Amino acid sequence: MRVLVIGSGGREHAIVWALSRSSGVDKIFCAPGNGGIQELAELVPISVNDFDGLGQFALEKEVGLVVVGPDDPLADGIVDHLQGMGLKVFGPNKAAAQIEGSKIFMKDLCHKYRIPTAAYETFDDAERALTYIREQGAPIVLKADGLAAGKGVIVAETLEEAEAAIDKIMLQRAFGDAGERIIVEEFLAGQEVSILAFVDGDTVRPMIEAQDHKPAYDGDEGPNTGGMGTYAPVPQICRAQLQQAVETIIEPAARAMVQEGRSFSGVLFAGLMMTTDGPRLIEFNARFGDPETQVVLPLLKTDLFEVLLATAEGRLDQVELQWKEGAAVCVILASGGYPTSYEKGFAISGLDQVDTLVFHAGTKVEAGGAVTNGGRVLGVVATGPDVATARAKAYEEAVKIDFEGRHMRSDIALKAALPV
Ligand code: AMP
Ligand code: GLY
Repeated sequence: MRVLVIGSGGREHAIVWALSRSSGVDKIFCAPGNGGIQELAELVPISVNDFDGLGQFALEKEVGLVVVGPDDPLADGIVDHLQGMGLKVFGPNKAAAQIEGSKIFMKDLCHKYRIPTAAYETFDDAERALTYIREQGAPIVLKADGLAAGKGVIVAETLEEAEAAIDKIMLQRAFGDAGERIIVEEFLAGQEVSILAFVDGDTVRPMIEAQDHKPAYDGDEGPNTGGMGTYAPVPQICRAQLQQAVETIIEPAARAMVQEGRSFSGVLFAGLMMTTDGPRLIEFNARFGDPETQVVLPLLKTDLFEVLLATAEGRLDQVELQWKEGAAVCVILASGGYPTSYEKGFAISGLDQVDTLVFHAGTKVEAGGAVTNGGRVLGVVATGPDVATARAKAYEEAVKIDFEGRHMRSDIALKAALPV
C-alpha cells in the first residue's frame, strides 16, 4: 500500500522510518517532510494546512492510508476533510481532537467523568485571574487555552512570576488568541511520564511509557521547549502505577469520548504526573508525541503499519502490541537560542560518522549537504539493554554531530540511569 505521512518533524521521521520497515508498505510520501525523511520517502511540497491540495495529491497517487502527525491540522479538521474526499486516514476527527485543541474542553471532560487531574479555574479577565492567584499563592501553573506549540504553559514558582505570566499571556498576547482565556491550575508534584495509546472508540492499546525533558537546560532550568530529549521505558515508576494510569485516565477518557459522540481514533497521548496520591492527568494530546515517538517506535516489535491501518479501519481490537526488551534514549540537538530566537541555515557536520538512528526535525538538504532549518534540529536515538547503556551510546554518537550554536542537554535520562 502507498502511505502519505503529513508533517515535518522528528516524530514524522520516526513514523516514516517505522513504516519503511513494513512489508505492507510499497511507497511512502511525506508532506512536507525534512532533510532526513527524504532518504526514506518522496517529499511532497504541500503545506500541512492545504487540506484540498493534500487530498488531491493522495487521490491522484492512489494513497491507501494518510497518517497525520501534527496537532494543528487535526484541530482544524484535516481528518474530516480527507475522509470526505474518500480517503482512509489515521488520526482523530475535529470533534475528537478537541481533547487537545481546547484545554477547557479537556478539563470539563475530566470533571464530568471523574478523571483525576489538577484542580483549576478559568478566566477571560486578567484582573480576576490576578486576584485568584494572589489568594492561591505559589507555586501555581498558568496555561493559555488553545494550542501554543507546547509552550503556552508557565509553572510559576513565585507570585511575581505568576503575575508576569498573566501579563505575558493575557495582555501582551505572547501566544496570540490562545491567550484570550487562561487556566490557572493547582501545581502537581511528582515524576512526569507520557503514556501514548492507540485508541479506536473504546479499544485502548497503550504503548511503552516514556519521559520527556521539556525545559531547555540541564537540571530542568530555563523555558519550556517542545522537548529536549526522551527515554523509554521509565523503570523507576512502578508498573502498578502505570496500569492505574491506564485504567483511571486513558480508558475512561476513550469511553467518555464515545459517550460524548466524539469517538476518538488515533493516538491519545496522556501527559501524567505520578503524585503521592496516584496518577494525575496534566494534559491529553491527540497525536504522537515529539520526541516520545522517537524512543517508543524503535521498541515496538509489532508492525506499525498494521496497527495504524487497523485503527483507521476501526478494528484495533484485533491487534495486540508487542515490545522489544531493553530501552531507548533520544537526545535532541537544538539551535542555539531555541525556544526563543535562533538562526537557521548552518551546515551540519558529522552525520556520516554516526552509528545509530538519527531522526531529523529542523533540517533541509542543500547542494552542499544538510543545514539547520528549525529550533529542534536532530534527535539522536540509541537503544540498549537498559537506559544507562542506551544513554551512554546516544551521547557518544550525539557529540559527533556539530553545527554552529548546537545545544543539547547533558542530563537526558539521567534520573533513570543513576544507580539506586
Ligand atoms: P503541558 O503543555 O500542559 O504538558 O505543560 C508543560 C509542562 O508544564 C508539563 O510537561 C509539566 O512539566 C508542567 N506542568 C503542566 N501542568 C502542571 C501542573 N498542574 N503541575 C505541575 N507541573 C505542570
Ligand atoms: N513531547 C511533548 C509533546 O509532543 O507535546
